[in-house]
Amino acid sequence: MGAKSGDGAVLSKTIDPLPMVDEEPAVEIVAREDFSDVTYLLEFRHPMMAKAAKPGQFVIVIPREHGERIPLTIADFDRDKGTITLVIQAVGKTTKEMQQACRTGTTLFSVVGPMGEPSHIGDLGKVVCVGGGLGVAPVFPQARAFKENGAYVIGVIGFRNKDLVFWEDKFRKYCDEFIICSDDGSVGIKGLVTEGIKAAMDNHDDIDEVIAIGPPIMMKACAETTRPSGIKTSVSLNPIMVDGTGMCGGCRVKIGGKMQFACVDGPDFDGHQVDFDDLMNRLKRFTEDEKLAVERWTETCRAGKAS
Ligand SMILES: Cc1cc2nc3c(=O)[nH]c(=O)nc-3n(C[C@H](O)[C@H](O)[C@H](O)COP(=O)(O)OP(=O)(O)OC[C@H]3O[C@@H](n4cnc5c(N)ncnc54)[C@H](O)[C@@H]3O)c2cc1C
Ligand code: FES
Repeated sequence: MGAKSGDGAVLSKTIDPLPMVDEEPAVEIVAREDFSDVTYLLEFRHPMMAKAAKPGQFVIVIPREHGERIPLTIADFDRDKGTITLVIQAVGKTTKEMQQACRTGTTLFSVVGPMGEPSHIGDLGKVVCVGGGLGVAPVFPQARAFKENGAYVIGVIGFRNKDLVFWEDKFRKYCDEFIICSDDGSVGIKGLVTEGIKAAMDNHDDIDEVIAIGPPIMMKACAETTRPSGIKTSVSLNPIMVDGTGMCGGCRVKIGGKMQFACVDGPDFDGHQVDFDDLMNRLKRFTEDEKLAVERWTETCRAGKAS
């Protein structure tokens, strides 16, 4: 006898109930490191995700029940240990809240991923991997993958000053040449990462690709530096994302005059085709709300301390 559907139609076959799935366990944080007052590393255990992760992909984290969903790049993964590493900058309510709450042994409510298209690690002869500030973390897996694929890797990393430097050792390990830049000259070349790219271009006329990750203004400057020579330049875009699955349209970016969704078509794109001004304008859309959210959260923290 068939089962009855809501509108009275008889289904030809009884539908077996779906097997019960245990509620997904919270994700355990197994390591934390602070690089500065605002930048911190979290490593969490998720063997299946670590097995699937590829350079260039990201995760969406909900740090606590009823918390906000935020996209974060997979800065490293260790398939043997079954862990994923994130490097986070505390810029607003959720990232500040995580900075306060996420310690080794605590849990994240939910992590979804790996998401996005992996970076294309082709059989290239020579690449320049450029990371600016926090961008140093997401460009690392690409530098390592290129090296493991046999490429000659030139690493260029830049920070405001020497106190903010992190992962220099990790980069040196996988780079055939390494250039460090700082805005104030306290370490390496004085100047922006574009100075490092220019130095690499002066010394090598056979660079196949430049991969640049950092704030949009930095990626724009990198793309302009390589444009005259036509060196392919890949960038990783960070528009505001909501679902991360191509459904809400929140992350749309203009590439070569056409609209693309960074969460499913990217986040890597051809830097020479990106409309960076549009991206930067869209990133400012919620500035007032973001400011208010931090103010409210800071008030709640103060009230909590006082009581
Ligand atoms: C693909 C991708 C990868 C990212 N990887 C990292 C990373 O590895 N480390 C890191 O620190 N940050 C990363 N970000 C940015 C990070 O998601 C935002 O800093 C974070 O969502 C800010 O939330 P908030 O509540 O702390 O700050 P808010 O005050 O809400 O926002 C601060 C700024 O962050 C940006 N932002 C806010 N909400 C979002 C959102 N839902 N999606 C994207 N950007 C947002 C806006 O530019 C905003 O002005 C990534 C963003 C994208 C899209
Ligand atoms: S985040 Fe919704 S479409 Fe990309």
